[in-house]
Amino acid sequence: MTRVLSCIQPTGAVHLGNYLGALRNWVRDQHDKDVFHGIVDLHALTIAEEPGVVGEATIELAAMLFAIGLDPEVATVFVQSHVPEHSQLSWVMECTVSYGELSRMTQFKDKTAKREGKFISAGLFTYPALQAADILLYDTNEVPVGDDQRQHIEITRDIALRFNHRFGDTFVIPDAVIPTAGARVMDLQDPTSKMSKSATTDAGCVMMLDDPTAIMKKFKRAVTDSDSEVRYDVAAKPGVSGLLDILAAATGRSPQDAAADYTQYGPLKADTGEAIVALLEPIQARYRELIADKGELARLLSIGAGRARVVASATLQRAYDHIGLVRP
Ligand code: TRP
Repeated sequence: MTRVLSCIQPTGAVHLGNYLGALRNWVRDQHDKDVFHGIVDLHALTIAEEPGVVGEATIELAAMLFAIGLDPEVATVFVQSHVPEHSQLSWVMECTVSYGELSRMTQFKDKTAKREGKFISAGLFTYPALQAADILLYDTNEVPVGDDQRQHIEITRDIALRFNHRFGDTFVIPDAVIPTAGARVMDLQDPTSKMSKSATTDAGCVMMLDDPTAIMKKFKRAVTDSDSEVRYDVAAKPGVSGLLDILAAATGRSPQDAAADYTQYGPLKADTGEAIVALLEPIQARYRELIADKGELARLLSIGAGRARVVASATLQRAYDHIGLVRP
């Protein structure tokens, strides 16, 4: 069966755009392929945080992934630092990639440019080596990624090919694949931009844990278009179309179809808000249960880590053996 790996960094809360745009597909696709989902807490260390911050974000993200319906018996959901092979293979990757290659990574250049005058960790530089380890440890066939991550998959392939050439066939060469298309979810205040929590105002971004009152308020205040016609037309009517996209994603209809039910903006906003409240309610309830039961969360994560380690430890040992390191 095709092995798929996706990883996310535990940096901040999940919003509706992440869910409808991507995470919901993880749940839908979990039965079709052998899916591994890593919460990459070690990658989050590249930018310094206060003690406890990364751990808390890791627990919250894990609770959210289970709350939306990832089934620990089907999908392998694990925390990167629970699988020490990531750090171990990362060193081998660092010794297989060159200084020049890492220097040419656009993400590294962008991030260091933004941090001028601030602390730039060596981890920011070697980040792609750890990511290559994440991917190669699982004999991954497919890595679903957006355009911003393509270069990271390319360098992973280069590292794997170089290693295999030097030491014999060891790693599966992964392919970057385009993620299954999710819903188009635009910012409620700036409907020409994707919903994002880094937007200037949080009024345009619905968080997964927003309470019903806050959600209704954000939809009621959503930016609409200057005339008053309800019609799905992304270019001419971005505000209304953004609402229709969200309503459609929540109700399983097409946005054109949903548009036919409305002649005014008010009811469209109210119904979209209510549809999202209804969609999120069971997820929030399950999240609250899990976040209040750290023992259960730990148990679920240990199932994932156990399964991940079975694969990862075999791959690491294979790599060490092919290099010819002495077994302990
Ligand atoms: N670099 C990725 C990002 O910022 C996160 C990541 C780490 C990742 N390891 C990975 C993604 C392995 C896919 C596969 O989004």
